[in-house]
Amino acid sequence: MQLNERHQVVWKEPLIFELGAKGRRGHNYPSLTPEENEKLQEVLQKIPETMLRKDSSNLPEVSEVEVVRHYTRLSETNYGVDSGFYPLGSCTMKYNPKINEVLSQLPEVLELHPYQPIETVQGALELMYKLGEWLKEIAGMDAITLQPAAGAAGEFTGVSIIKAYHEFKNEGDTRTEIIVPDSAHGTNPASSSMAGFKTVVIPSNEEGCVDLEALEAALSEKTAGLMLTNPNTLGLFEKDILKIAKMVHDAGGLVYYDGANLNPILGRIRPGDMGFDIVHFNLHKAFSTPHGGGGPGAGPVGVKDFLKDFLPVPTIEFDGEKYYFNYDVPHTIGKVHGFYGNFAILVRAFAYILRLGKEGLKMASALATLNSNYLLHHAKNIKGFSLPYAPERLRMHEFVLSAQPMLKDTGVSTLDISKRMLDFGMHPPTIYFPLIVHEALMIEPTETESKEELDRFIAILQKISEEAYNGKTELLHTAPHNTAVGRVDEVLAARHPILSYRMLKQKEKE
Ligand SMILES: Cc1ncc(COP(=O)(O)O)c(C=O)c1O
Repeated sequence: MQLNERHQVVWKEPLIFELGAKGRRGHNYPSLTPEENEKLQEVLQKIPETMLRKDSSNLPEVSEVEVVRHYTRLSETNYGVDSGFYPLGSCTMKYNPKINEVLSQLPEVLELHPYQPIETVQGALELMYKLGEWLKEIAGMDAITLQPAAGAAGEFTGVSIIKAYHEFKNEGDTRTEIIVPDSAHGTNPASSSMAGFKTVVIPSNEEGCVDLEALEAALSEKTAGLMLTNPNTLGLFEKDILKIAKMVHDAGGLVYYDGANLNPILGRIRPGDMGFDIVHFNLHKAFSTPHGGGGPGAGPVGVKDFLKDFLPVPTIEFDGEKYYFNYDVPHTIGKVHGFYGNFAILVRAFAYILRLGKEGLKMASALATLNSNYLLHHAKNIKGFSLPYAPERLRMHEFVLSAQPMLKDTGVSTLDISKRMLDFGMHPPTIYFPLIVHEALMIEPTETESKEELDRFIAILQKISEEAYNGKTELLHTAPHNTAVGRVDEVLAARHPILSYRMLKQKEKE
């Protein structure tokens, strides 16, 4: 097996502020005629003093070619899903077809303005309306908002709806707790706390699923709801989901579906049929926008009919002839995003679903699950790795290995393993999450990887294991060796982040 050791280009690239020279420009405008200049001065005089930029000397002064080369060089020191395998568990880093990218960049999309008269944006509204209908169908929900900007923003929207619902029923003061399993994504307890709830964490059972006894003990008249993702963060399907939903409903709570893990169930089962009342989607995972990298996302929220009056405004409706914004939502929680959400992300999702159709989505979810179980089958038997929780059960789209045995035997940690992967041009999986697995490697291959790429991943794990057990531990502790940037001081970066040029200059002065 060819492992493709990767030697990344190393550029000692200065900051863009350190390039160029005083007065250098990337563009030239034709000089103004005396009349034009006069007009300009007139306009400038009308700008209030407080709004005039005093000092533009902090801008880089560079030519066009310097800008292009600077960013091209930086891009060569980067790694993305277009460079290679990116099995970042819980992030669904699938390859996204470029056609959807192209469609989202059409002038009809980019040049729209949210204040345009509604008759001129009927196409955009139709797209949003139809996307909403499809997402409702996919999740088994009755009404939807496309506004939230990400998964966590969707969670906050959903939990705010739970709050508004209990307040409407005059139970807002008593129903103050949201239950979350200990395997949940960190955003779940964060969203619950941000919405003013007390988060009650319940332990997983030996199988890595919701412990029904612990859930029973946590439920009370204080319960506002339960947040759950299914399949859960271990990649295990919660088989007791119908029972779980009933227990929460019987206690008067609502059941929230964290749809970040929707990819493996697309077109097969629906959260609405599993008993969930509210769902968020991560369009920037399953639906053709890359997750991660800090770019914009979209986290639409679907609800069952009895919650539709709490959705953010405006909802997008169709009266049989035209599409329109509906602000008449009686108990709305208000707006959760400027205007109507991140439209270009919605375009990509629309194009993706339209192209795949129901059968295509079903195929995608099947392949995501197949790829994950193929990798798991080989990876779990490599020396130094184990599969905690229900080792006999199949996983869904992802699985979580533990490198605890390797750490114990050789001192090589999960961090060392993941850094060494970079030397082979492989993005490491998510590590040290979920917290219930020691030395965790959370691996999600997605449906877009070929068998050869999966085999390469297995061979790399195998090689790292051999290095660890054959005394090459120093090589692993000091990895990566072939990348533009070596091992960074993660604690320093987290504790003392320098995020801007201004902060850097400030730091240098201190
Ligand atoms: C299970 C789960 N829930 C929620 C989220 C939050 O989504 P976002 O990053 O879009 O805020 C993630 C993100 O990875 C996730 O994996």
